[in-house]
Amino acid sequence: MDNPVSDHARTEAGQSRMPATGNANWLADPAHEAPVTGTRVCVIGAGFVGLVTAAGLAQSGHTVVCVEKNEQKAAELANGDVSLYERDLPEMVNANLRRKRLSFSTDLASSVVDQDVILVAVSTPPSSQGQVDLTAFDEVLATLATVIRPDQVVVIKSTVPVGTARRAAECLNRTIGKTGQVPVVSCPEFLRESTAIYDYFHPARIVVGGSNREAVDRVVRLYRAGLAEAAPIVVTENEIAELVKYAANVYLAMRLSYINELSAVCDALHVAVGDVAYTMGLDRRIGSKYLAVGPGFGGSCLPKDLDAYIAMAERLGIDLVLAPAIRESNQRHLARTVQKVRGVVGGDFKGKRIGALGLAFKAHTHDVRSSPALAVIQVFLSEGAVVRAFDPAAMAQAQPLIPQVTMCETALDVATEADALVLLTEWPEFQVLDWAEARRRMPEARIVDARNLLSPEMMRRHGFLYVGLGQ
Ligand code: UDX
Repeated sequence: MDNPVSDHARTEAGQSRMPATGNANWLADPAHEAPVTGTRVCVIGAGFVGLVTAAGLAQSGHTVVCVEKNEQKAAELANGDVSLYERDLPEMVNANLRRKRLSFSTDLASSVVDQDVILVAVSTPPSSQGQVDLTAFDEVLATLATVIRPDQVVVIKSTVPVGTARRAAECLNRTIGKTGQVPVVSCPEFLRESTAIYDYFHPARIVVGGSNREAVDRVVRLYRAGLAEAAPIVVTENEIAELVKYAANVYLAMRLSYINELSAVCDALHVAVGDVAYTMGLDRRIGSKYLAVGPGFGGSCLPKDLDAYIAMAERLGIDLVLAPAIRESNQRHLARTVQKVRGVVGGDFKGKRIGALGLAFKAHTHDVRSSPALAVIQVFLSEGAVVRAFDPAAMAQAQPLIPQVTMCETALDVATEADALVLLTEWPEFQVLDWAEARRRMPEARIVDARNLLSPEMMRRHGFLYVGLGQ
């Protein structure tokens, strides 16, 4: 595929015209409507956000150099070898390498020199105290401070604590001194893994925070060039842009904990949580998204951002009730999932053969960071179970974290001689598994479906003792 989305993606977006609310200012100035392509951009970091952003910007017509300090990874990417499991990303990287709109480098200082806009997209992992580890970010700042010019714009894409953009501006401008001020713009990222390319071209909103109007407009134009359809562009302050990312992820985590808790209530009442969620979601104030039950929320963002938000509130002297409760609720829900499996194997995991279907934190990704599947499996292992597992994409990533687990070649192999199966990731292929054959391979057919992915009637027809969450 040479040109995966370009024609579609380069259609000029219309602009939502919304009244200004609070500090957010909906950009509705016709002078800024023309998308500009051909901006020279440096994206620092070729992780998930950096690489998707670099590919998206190149696809939108900009010329992008992506800096990755890991030499092997940079060389692989320059060869078009994309190891991230992300739909359409390898095709888009390769198409833009061929067009020479995308290149990779390991040298930060020299890559920055000729660029108009510099996007910082390095990872900001959790620190040991649940705060944000800014080591990589600060290293980048230190190098940028030696080469940056006031006519360039620095954009922070990494998820960073509120106040980081202001601190970054001070750091960069200390060294520049009298020759001018480098504008620092906050542009948080809302991409979901597995639909990141779609999300890039169809964002629900683009948030651009900064005090230098000209710099903010440059970033707005940079992004607008790639919009496939109208999207609200919120121009606001750095601090609001930084906080919105945390606020959104904590809210999503809250919805997920809400529905997962509701599933426990539904269990006790013998009613189907899916029917309750569907009916709730028809209320336009609530909506239907993020109401699917699972073993708990996970991934590289929601748990980490929740922790960072709680840590930030503590620093501010605010005694939060809700956010810590979300964390606690997610832990208890994981424990509830374990209890369900304990229930079907007769109360004791010792020596029990458990087959785990799914390891990734959600389907269509190979990411196992904070995966609820691994958390649940760790409990089985700690209590003496023998665990075999299959995941269509995440086995290589999971194996070092759970070395005691035998990885199987197929999902059906997981069923062979298993005392119970537990479905932990909602891969569609589990829905169409040959369940009759799985049944034949098990001495006693029992399954806990922690994603409510399968039809209880179908599974019972196949002779399974089927247990879902709130079904
Ligand atoms: C999330 C945010 O959605 C995204 O905006 C942000 O930029 C990064 O963090 P992601 O980590 O890719 O994205 O995962 P997401 O799709 O939001 O799912 C998070 C967790 O919630 C997963 O464990 C998923 O399985 C779970 N989930 C999601 C449910 O259990 N039910 C749902 O209905 C939706």
